Amino acid sequence: MLIKTAEFIVSNSDVTKCPKDILPEYAFIGRSNVGKSSLINMLTNHKNLAKTSGKPGKTQLINHFIINKNWYLVDLPGYGYARVSKSLKNKFQKFITDYFEKRLQLVNAFVLIDIRHEPQKIDLEFMQWMGEHGIPFSIVFTKADKLKPNTIEDHVNTYLNELLTNWEEAPRHFVTSSTSALGREDILQFIDSTNKEINALRNS
Ligand code: GTP
Ligand code: MG
Repeated sequence: MLIKTAEFIVSNSDVTKCPKDILPEYAFIGRSNVGKSSLINMLTNHKNLAKTSGKPGKTQLINHFIINKNWYLVDLPGYGYARVSKSLKNKFQKFITDYFEKRLQLVNAFVLIDIRHEPQKIDLEFMQWMGEHGIPFSIVFTKADKLKPNTIEDHVNTYLNELLTNWEEAPRHFVTSSTSALGREDILQFIDSTNKEINALRNS
């Protein structure tokens, strides 16, 4: 899919104030610093569309970007950085869980995982929560450029095997690097075909 235009629309912390139209949207979620905003810039081929930083906690709000004037990418704040609390609900800011629970336009969430690390409890808990709430998601492994190419597959398999101890099927997954644009075509292709399915359903 060709990205012709990518524009920032609005930032807010209240899901009820997100854009009212019914264009399909795709959100990026994961630990702080995992590379959500960088991935949005890589996918859209816009260096500074979403704000990135070497320090965790850069993205603080729900940010809507409209692509080709007919679908949205949504950049979200990360979890696992601000504070750790006993209840799962409090680990993720309320407005983020609200976004996932209430945003009917959300077609798929991309859950980002740093490919270098062993599976982390907070990410597994988050995916569990998504599953329990019936929210469709895919996994995006980030920062693949930081691994030796011949170890990438091992890291992915270790991760997916961990998921299979709890899930019947592993979710769809992508391996990416925002510096080399690895995975760009695969993700855009997935979004394009999903948008086409949605439009076909709406027109039938
Ligand atoms: P928050 O908004 O704080 O939750 O972080 P984020 O998940 O949006 O991460 P961000 O895109 O701001 O990137 C965090 C850091 O990781 C920055 O220094 C990026 O340059 C770096 N980074 C992101 N993706 C990649 C990647 O694919 N490869 C490499 N080498 N660095 C990356
Ligand atoms: Mg960010």
